[in-house]
Amino acid sequence: MSDIQRVGVVGSGLMGSGIAEVSARAGLDVIVAEVNVDAAAAAQGRIASSLARGVKSGKLSESDREAALGRIRFTTDIGEFADRQFVVEAVAENEQIKTDVFTALDKVVKDEDAIFASNTSSIPIMKLGMATQRPEQVIGVHFFNPVPVLKLVEIVPSLLTGATTQVRAEAFVRATLHKEVIRSQDRAGFVVNALLIPYLLSSIRMLESGFASADDIDNGMVLGCAHPMGPLRLTDLIGLDTTKAIAESMYDEFKEPLYSPPPLLLRMVDAGLLGKKSGRGFHNYA
Ligand code: CAA
Repeated sequence: MSDIQRVGVVGSGLMGSGIAEVSARAGLDVIVAEVNVDAAAAAQGRIASSLARGVKSGKLSESDREAALGRIRFTTDIGEFADRQFVVEAVAENEQIKTDVFTALDKVVKDEDAIFASNTSSIPIMKLGMATQRPEQVIGVHFFNPVPVLKLVEIVPSLLTGATTQVRAEAFVRATLHKEVIRSQDRAGFVVNALLIPYLLSSIRMLESGFASADDIDNGMVLGCAHPMGPLRLTDLIGLDTTKAIAESMYDEFKEPLYSPPPLLLRMVDAGLLGKKSGRGFHNYA
């Protein structure tokens, strides 16, 4: 069993909200830091409706729902993270923003054994570790969307992550959060996105070239390969901006054309067509 009881989540977009929800459902005390009250309110709404969905499907009782909500507190002041034992960063997939968060967390978290986790998909954990004075306590802990549903967490130690940090992080994820763990070296994309992102980009290239329609591409993979959703709908779920950012980090790392974001993806991000969260991507969600 893990000794970790007090969790801090920085950033409460799709992933941060999911991580906060799963942590609260596991009985942990959770503080979520956001940049402003509007973003915090949006996250609170997202978590409330996800918990309500759990009640509706019989996975959660009404009192469990209330208790989970009661364990999550929102703040715009990261200074409130002083007593956190496990902090997880889930801000935008941007190296500068993430390193700034790690530098700030290193200054405010007082627990000498605290674990500093990142939910990054593609930014080197080593760079995040070096933004702190405690790189041995920094580790990649990468969840999958929707976090309350998907069982996997990738654990990614950097060259300087301590063995104790890795053992504690894995024990926490398995025993407390009830997720399955796979391990990956600190390479952009880790295991899952190294395989997934080229597939998603290929589906966008296929659409862009007029080879097949969005519905036919998606139905092809759902009905022909039993995937729960097709690649374009999945890109809409992940967010086109996030997909672009992950592809760019992977392209920077490996310089392989298969990771290069296709022009259609770039134009759609420019147009604000970000997928499910903006109401329109390759499909409509109005
Ligand atoms: N919160 C809580 N529960 C949710 C949920 C959410 N956001 N979304 C779905 N669920 C639950 C539902 O309540 C439902 O539970 P019951 O069966 O107990 O009723 C169950 O999940 C199935 O949901 P639905 O019936 O509404 O829909 P579905 O069967 O079409 O499943 C899906 C939806 C779970 C999203 C499924 O389509 C799926 O797994 N898709 C693939 C998702 C995927 O590949 N994610 C990985 C993305 S990559 C990533 O995240 C990492 C990265 O770095 C980019």
